[in-house]
Amino acid sequence: MDSILVRGGTELAGEIPIAGAKNACLTLMPATLLSDEPLTLTNAPRLSDIRTMTQLLASLGAEVTQLQDGQVLAMSSHDINNLTADYDIVRKMRASILVLGPMLARCGRAVVSLPGGCAIGARPVDLHLKGLEALGATLDLKDGYVHAEAKSGLKGAVFEFPLVSVGATENILMASVLAKGTTVLKNAAREPEIVDLAQCLRRMGAQIEGEGTSEITIQGVDRLHGATHPVVPDRIELGTYMLAPAIAGGSVECLGGRMELVSSFAEKLAATGVEIEETAKGLKVTRKNGRVRSVDVETAPFPGFPTDLQAQMMALMCTADGVSVLEERIFENRFMHAPELMRMGASIDVSGGTATVTGVEKLKGAPVMATDLRASVSLILAGLAAEGETRVSRVYHLDRGYEHVVRKLSGVGASIERVHGE
Ligand code: EPU
Repeated sequence: MDSILVRGGTELAGEIPIAGAKNACLTLMPATLLSDEPLTLTNAPRLSDIRTMTQLLASLGAEVTQLQDGQVLAMSSHDINNLTADYDIVRKMRASILVLGPMLARCGRAVVSLPGGCAIGARPVDLHLKGLEALGATLDLKDGYVHAEAKSGLKGAVFEFPLVSVGATENILMASVLAKGTTVLKNAAREPEIVDLAQCLRRMGAQIEGEGTSEITIQGVDRLHGATHPVVPDRIELGTYMLAPAIAGGSVECLGGRMELVSSFAEKLAATGVEIEETAKGLKVTRKNGRVRSVDVETAPFPGFPTDLQAQMMALMCTADGVSVLEERIFENRFMHAPELMRMGASIDVSGGTATVTGVEKLKGAPVMATDLRASVSLILAGLAAEGETRVSRVYHLDRGYEHVVRKLSGVGASIERVHGE
């Protein structure tokens, strides 16, 4: 298994290009199932999760062709010949559940394996199922699979999500664009990935209003047509690389970064004392001499502070001046990076969903283990600030969500390499 070796202590300088968003692309790809005409995505990220979604769509009969080194995905779902999403693929990636809504809407039937729990929490899919039932689907749970049917098609309805869910909002939004009549989704998620999905569906002929607010209204149409859509920049990759100069010192310009994608995160980052500048090319973050200040963080659905940046922010807080309280409100088990950061000399006390971090002057390099995607990159960030060598193992987690991480960080002067097969 590969590992990543980071030697800390180098200030960073230069530019990092931000890729298209993994979590947007993973919901835009299943949208191909809604139409028999081609859907092309540009600005797609090159990630193992995207390859998994490609395999899943191919298993259903869709064609996915990678062009321009994977940055363009040309998809066609002209011939959907299998309506079962198999456990072997779904278990690898929870976002697989996002094929359920589109398949059911277009084909009137779908069988999708239930994803299991995952390292960061139980992550049930009950809201996806409730939303589809509200649109008139009949659901049956058998042998670990959800068997969904809507013989005479889905019907528009008013559905209020009991709690904000990104995935459930995406699934029901995709299902409702082909439902008969009007659907109103209340307490919908407002994430930029939802806005991106709605824009793509609109390009395909869907009638949607209100995305980006908590109430989305969809007027069903008979069919969708082909389209080409650029994937929105990855706000989590953006936030991660904005933290790199904050933790290591120096200045990094994140190309393609947009403030409205990361505003609550950027507000917290600025409060630590680093400079953030909106430039013609993106967002530039600079830390001059001295330690950053501690800040408190509470994760929340968008536009709040993203849970997907909590681990990386914790890495920064480990070397900040003062005490920081980090509250994780989205997932019940998302502090697995804390014990690994403590192996590097961090002082962290975890109690339930709260982590109290007392900043230390210096972290020390150590062998550490990635436990999930965002945890793995937080260890790399910590390694940039640590004295000596940090070896991060189990980097397959990282490959799910960060393309060319070694190339991007070494391009701004970090001492980082991938070690194969150890
Ligand atoms: N929830 C339920 N029932 C449901 C759905 C969700 O109880 O049917 C709960 C979850 O267990 C969680 C909360 O609701 O406690 C929010 O989960 P949400 O559905 O919003 O998350 P998701 O759609 O499964 C996406 C991202 C995650 C990101 C979350 C929150 C994708 C593919 N994944 O997950 O990304 O953390 O939204 O913003 O879009 C990552 O990229 O590292 C990652 C985990």
